[in-house]
Amino acid sequence: MASLTELEGRLAGLGLDSPFPDVPAANALTKPIDIYRLHLASLIAATLECDVAAAYEAILTATDLTLADLAVVVPKLKPKDVKDIKEFAIELVQKLPTSPLYAVPYPDGVQLRFFFSQKTLPLLMLPYIRERGTTYGEDHAQGLKDPTNPEGGQKKIVVEFSSPNIPGDFNGSHLRSTIVGGFVAKMYECMGWDVVRMNYLGDWGKDLALFAVGWDKYGSEEALEADPLDYIMDVFGKIKADFQPESDASKQAKNESKSTAEIESQGIFAQRDGFFKKLEDKDEEALAFWKKFRDIILTKLEPAYKRLGVTFDEYSGESQSLQVTMAEIEATLSANGVLQESDGSQIINFEDHGNKGLGTVIVRARTGSSTYFLRDLAAAVDREKKHAFDKMIYVVASKQNSHFQQVFKTLELLGREDLAKKLQHVSFGDITGMAPHVKKTMSLGQILDECAEIMKTAGTEDGKDNEDGGDDAAPSCGGDPAAVGGLLSLDLFGKRSHGYAFDKKRMTAEEGDSCRMLQQEYAKLVSVIAELRGPEGEGEDGGGDDPAPDHAALQKDESIDLLRMMAQYPDVTAATFKTLEPHGLLSYLSRLAEASAVELEEEDDGGDDGGDEDGAGPSSAAPEEETAESRKAKLMLYECVKQVLGHGMNLLGVPPIG
Ligand code: ARG
Repeated sequence: MASLTELEGRLAGLGLDSPFPDVPAANALTKPIDIYRLHLASLIAATLECDVAAAYEAILTATDLTLADLAVVVPKLKPKDVKDIKEFAIELVQKLPTSPLYAVPYPDGVQLRFFFSQKTLPLLMLPYIRERGTTYGEDHAQGLKDPTNPEGGQKKIVVEFSSPNIPGDFNGSHLRSTIVGGFVAKMYECMGWDVVRMNYLGDWGKDLALFAVGWDKYGSEEALEADPLDYIMDVFGKIKADFQPESDASKQAKNESKSTAEIESQGIFAQRDGFFKKLEDKDEEALAFWKKFRDIILTKLEPAYKRLGVTFDEYSGESQSLQVTMAEIEATLSANGVLQESDGSQIINFEDHGNKGLGTVIVRARTGSSTYFLRDLAAAVDREKKHAFDKMIYVVASKQNSHFQQVFKTLELLGREDLAKKLQHVSFGDITGMAPHVKKTMSLGQILDECAEIMKTAGTEDGKDNEDGGDDAAPSCGGDPAAVGGLLSLDLFGKRSHGYAFDKKRMTAEEGDSCRMLQQEYAKLVSVIAELRGPEGEGEDGGGDDPAPDHAALQKDESIDLLRMMAQYPDVTAATFKTLEPHGLLSYLSRLAEASAVELEEEDDGGDDGGDEDGAGPSSAAPEEETAESRKAKLMLYECVKQVLGHGMNLLGVPPIG
């Protein structure tokens, strides 16, 4: 349904022949609730002779569907000469004309509550969702450079996420960044943006250099070949232990505000910094070492990302920051009087620039090498040149909050407010403990193995194959459905800012906000739909003698509730896009899945041979007679539920079980 005129034509068929009022904030073509809101706003505006846009703003979507679908907040209508607003609300009920879209409203304090008419709801909603297909819930106009002109092209966003270090374990922050980042990228795609997924590897700097010192001391090619990732962690672990006393001594000196120059000019410190300097000076041997280990780790990481259902368009990394860009940045900072020397390093003291809370940061180390901070500044500048993005999001743990504030502030000090304004740090709390009985350093593959193990012991089959062909609306993410479902139940449970510990109970829960439950309900819908379609897929569209759906078959509370919930879906995705908080979407999908379970159970009780649930369901009344037409209406309903559930699962990164 491409235009409002067509939609108006459809509504005329339901007995509504007034055109949509012009309210710029509304979008009836992507949000069905706006059809209802706009229509109601027209009625109110005509009755009270008030502004239709103001009336539209006074209508809210209900959060509790047991109370209503929409609520008009009467004081927001600013009625004139009204003494008692509650009285007025009661009068308004009498004055408002009846409508085919609504049941008669009821006043509740200062609100008027409206339920959608059960009769017209399926007639409106089923075609609306089906016509939009897998784009239902999406709003592509949001991502247009000019929303009024689709020819003007899409806005571009770079989403940087995952970004583990080389070498280094795949820690909780990298894990959450991968999950949340994948979700953020999908949300932007859903809203029509052109998305570049970028993995910014920590493949340059002190850790890599320390590892090189360790490799010199302990490295064995044979052992590396036998088990590369484990062995790299092993060697890295050993040299980190060797280095600990020196690192502690330097920290202590810093805490006591003493110079660290002497400590850092000898021992492993000096070896590490020497190697890093060689790297920055493009020494061939050092570069070959860097490339060798970067490649080994990347080849191991990629299959693990695939299991999680995450892909990247670009593996960039700290090694890619251009020396020229860094030099230009430093020159401008110097010229602007922002850089100063401190104990041999070049630093910025943010206190001098009105940002007391941001402290100081080292831009270039005493050894002459670049820092994480400087590389991030250069990366932002270089990426903007390369991608000409409209926005860039860094999905990184909240413990780096001040790092990003410093980066953004420094870009301003560089005279690049324009760039700083395009950048956003999307943060999250830490995982407070990975699975405790596993050794501390883990690769992503090991983490997923561990999750798979937990799910298996909880008796969940792992239903590996989700490439079931045929099912074109199926979420396409993840090659390890049980493990990923369990992991996401943990990760998406609360607000991003809340950390969490590995909690097996929550991973394996099959109720509440649970990805496992979504997967199970989705699988149930797939099989019920296949059954309803029959062996030849007779219920599928396009068949010659397709029966017309009998919408009367959907006039029961369970089916109506599903339709009411699905009507809200585009509003849920829009709200999720605003906050980039996945948990609200997970809760919504869980409620939809629960409602779907109730509907299917009820069907099961009334239907033929029944599935795994037996026992007395709530409706032991004689089942209504099934006809091809009523079956068709149910099939259409279930297909819509499956589609909405699948769409949301895909946004969250929850793969279906086979
Ligand atoms: N590799 C870094 C770490 O493990 C995260 C990188 C975050 N991104 C950035 N642009 N600084 O801490």
